[in-house]
Amino acid sequence: MVATPALPTFTDAQVATIKGDWNNIKGQGVEILYHFLNKFPGNYPMFKQFGGKDLNAAKGTPEFSAQATAIINLLNGVMDKLGSDNAGAQAILANLGKTHKAKGITKEQFQQFREATTELLGNLGLGGNLGAWNALFDFVLNVVFTALDS
Ligand code: HEM
Repeated sequence: MVATPALPTFTDAQVATIKGDWNNIKGQGVEILYHFLNKFPGNYPMFKQFGGKDLNAAKGTPEFSAQATAIINLLNGVMDKLGSDNAGAQAILANLGKTHKAKGITKEQFQQFREATTELLGNLGLGGNLGAWNALFDFVLNVVFTALDS
């Protein structure tokens, strides 16, 4: 069982770092989704729109791109509110937990998304900002796990 992280408080500098990095990586949704599914292929069959295909072939399809866009759009909403309306950001994430609980998605799977995306951030040269990003992932998983438990 993956432990629920404590809800962090962000410094202004951490919020600025996360938002600045996000502007540079929000166009990389396909790479984020691909990295997650390539590193943890056990998650792949759940994606019924493309999950039966070879992952490298699926990566170029409109269905894969649509799933990546859905993830990025949801996180855009969180990023917009981070720092100025954390309660609003939490409400978006609580709903993410609720919709994913209904799909049967577990804490372990969200933890794998965290691990894969943290690794990708390092690959993209953002490893120096992982302190801020760890706080962001603690925030996301605190709220999502609370929803999964409810
Ligand atoms: C922060 C992480 C994540 C975000 C922002 C996110 C976002 C979304 C959004 C916006 C949708 C479409 C709306 C919905 O059906 O709820 C969706 C669908 C889905 N997500 Fe996630 N998700 C995340 C993590 C995960 C993880 C870890 C899994 C594990 C496999 C997962 C599996 C799915 C599946 C299977 C669907 C349905 C796809 C379909 O329409 O066939 N998600 N996700």
